[in-house]
Amino acid sequence: MAIPRETVEQILQAAHIEEVVGEFVTLKKRGSNMWGNCPFHNEKTPSFSVNPARNIFKCFGCGKAGDSAKFLMEHEHLTYWEALRYLAKKYNIKYEEKELTAEEIMQQQTREKMFNINEFADKYFVDTLWNTEEGKTIGLNYFHGRGYLNPIIEKFHLGYNPIQRDAFTIYAKEHGYSEELLEQIGLSIKNDNGIYDRYHGRVMFPIHNLTGRIIGFGGRIMVDNKKSPKYQNSPESEIYDKKQTLYGIYFAKNAIAKNDECILVEGYFDVLRMHQIGIENVVASSGTSLTMEQIRLVKRYTKNITMLYDGDAAGIHAALRGTDMILSEGMSVRVVVLPPEHDPDTFGRDFSVEYVTHYLKDNAKDFLRFKTELLLKDAENDPIKRGQVIRDIIETISIIPDAIYRVSYVKECSQLLDIPEQTLINELNKILRAKFKKSLGIDNNTVPETDKSPSQNQEELLEDQLPAGYYQERELVKLLLLYGSKLITDERIDEEGQRIYEQVSVAQFIVDDLKNDGFVFTNAVNKKIFDIFDRAIDEGRIPDDSFFVSHEDETIAQLAVDLLSSPYKLDQWEKYGIFVKQEENVLRATVLSSIYRYKDLIIEDRRKAVEEELKATSDLDDQLILLKRKKDLDDIRKQINKELGIVIAK
Ligand code: GTP
Ligand code: MN
Repeated sequence: MAIPRETVEQILQAAHIEEVVGEFVTLKKRGSNMWGNCPFHNEKTPSFSVNPARNIFKCFGCGKAGDSAKFLMEHEHLTYWEALRYLAKKYNIKYEEKELTAEEIMQQQTREKMFNINEFADKYFVDTLWNTEEGKTIGLNYFHGRGYLNPIIEKFHLGYNPIQRDAFTIYAKEHGYSEELLEQIGLSIKNDNGIYDRYHGRVMFPIHNLTGRIIGFGGRIMVDNKKSPKYQNSPESEIYDKKQTLYGIYFAKNAIAKNDECILVEGYFDVLRMHQIGIENVVASSGTSLTMEQIRLVKRYTKNITMLYDGDAAGIHAALRGTDMILSEGMSVRVVVLPPEHDPDTFGRDFSVEYVTHYLKDNAKDFLRFKTELLLKDAENDPIKRGQVIRDIIETISIIPDAIYRVSYVKECSQLLDIPEQTLINELNKILRAKFKKSLGIDNNTVPETDKSPSQNQEELLEDQLPAGYYQERELVKLLLLYGSKLITDERIDEEGQRIYEQVSVAQFIVDDLKNDGFVFTNAVNKKIFDIFDRAIDEGRIPDDSFFVSHEDETIAQLAVDLLSSPYKLDQWEKYGIFVKQEENVLRATVLSSIYRYKDLIIEDRRKAVEEELKATSDLDDQLILLKRKKDLDDIRKQINKELGIVIAK
């Protein structure tokens, strides 16, 4: 975590995307880009492109895109900082890791000690399971008795903690581990009578983090007994944060990415069973409700979650929990309900692999469909309940960030609920608008519809909800990113009425022009980018595209990558060499016409608003003012169109 800021930029600039990607994907040059089969989804014809000039990659099939660091994060499942260290090493960039404070060093040492003692304990538990009489007859027999085979017991480092209350604690102390650390990490418990093993007489499950280090344990009692809980789990510590942990993620992550699906179960044994029958993309929430952190952990590998739950009422109820959170992350959720009396463990034990695989395939139900059918069954012939179900479902749909999915859900639900699609859309739009205004802190009555400005997911709103000039705004941002530092000729009249020409950057031209005329971008990300240019120009510099592609604000980086990787008219011209001489003219014309088109749409929109007001008022004075305003706007539009005509004709 301690790479200095300047070094980060240096590393990202030194990294050549084609070399970084080239280590993992075979690339062939075609045009100015390089192409290969996408490593993130299955395909036969290459739609994965690398653009060396812009130092970015983008897959036109699955949409994954970004810079070198992003590629490594996605492909190698590294964290951002791990990716940077990898690149620094590859490109031989030396840097001083930022000095850690005494407190940070202490903390690091504590963490290291905790990992070490867990490692030590794990060895002990595994050794005890396999190599002691007690371990073999009690622990190993228990696993075998439940139908678990040696390879899976070994793979997951399952172990055994003896019945003697302090067997492990004594052993650890003999090896130099302090009581304090043992207690801190939760392997031992101290009370008035002394210090003893937290897990004595239990079979042990080590819990691994993403990189395979052991952060905690779960221990299961072997004879169910009312006095002690079935499972004992490690308390949280500096290295064990329960809300960030999924049991089995270390063993499942590759399979999750490969299958583009994560199966979610509840228990340790459910994970083991699935692995044993060859289904490896499985993790467990360990009996608690899902957290946002856990969902994001999965999202690093896939957007598709399948929840596999017991067939009893509790299981179905559990399947309903946490799903709104998954949807709000833009992920898809499916639910498989097992036959009554089964959990994934017994299901995998009692049926063949083929049967289980087919069952999962045939019974995976889209979550919304699952929820709708479930709620409808409850409501049956009660119209009031039915109304509630509809609102409930629409509310859930409104959580989905992607408009395309929302629309397809509306279609499906309209059939399921037997309600016209349009009715549902209207309801949905009401909720979306309310949410949107709330997010802006705007009261319902103060903002006319047309001024509604935009969340980051703007483009994902339904088409008719897009604010005026939306696409033109994007177009201008694209010009800023692509050609911001290129020079064009600005023509203006100075104080003495002389026509003067001067060279200005595209960025300065656009920013000045819009600012002078008081236009402000409505989309949040567009505006952020505009403001960055505005500030940079004041400081006499112009940020280049790599600055945005690697921007720490994920929304900016994503937009930059998307805009930069879609082909642009000018690129074509440049490529064919037709306009090379007049490149500047072409660029100038493009910039001007983009600005005029944008302004034209905004003004037209304002004019429409004035017309609406005119219709609504009967006050004569108001009408006169509005008519004057309308005429002004008409004049501006005429002027804009005249100039636009000139530009286009040139
Ligand atoms: P078996 O009953 O042996 O099949 O275990 P399981 O892994 O299937 O557990 P179950 O489905 O009963 O519970 C799901 C998960 O909830 C477990 O894997 C544990 O993580 C957790 N859990 C269950 N019982 C307890 C308990 O008594 N205490 C704690 N702390 N966690 C529990
Ligand atoms: Mn079970």
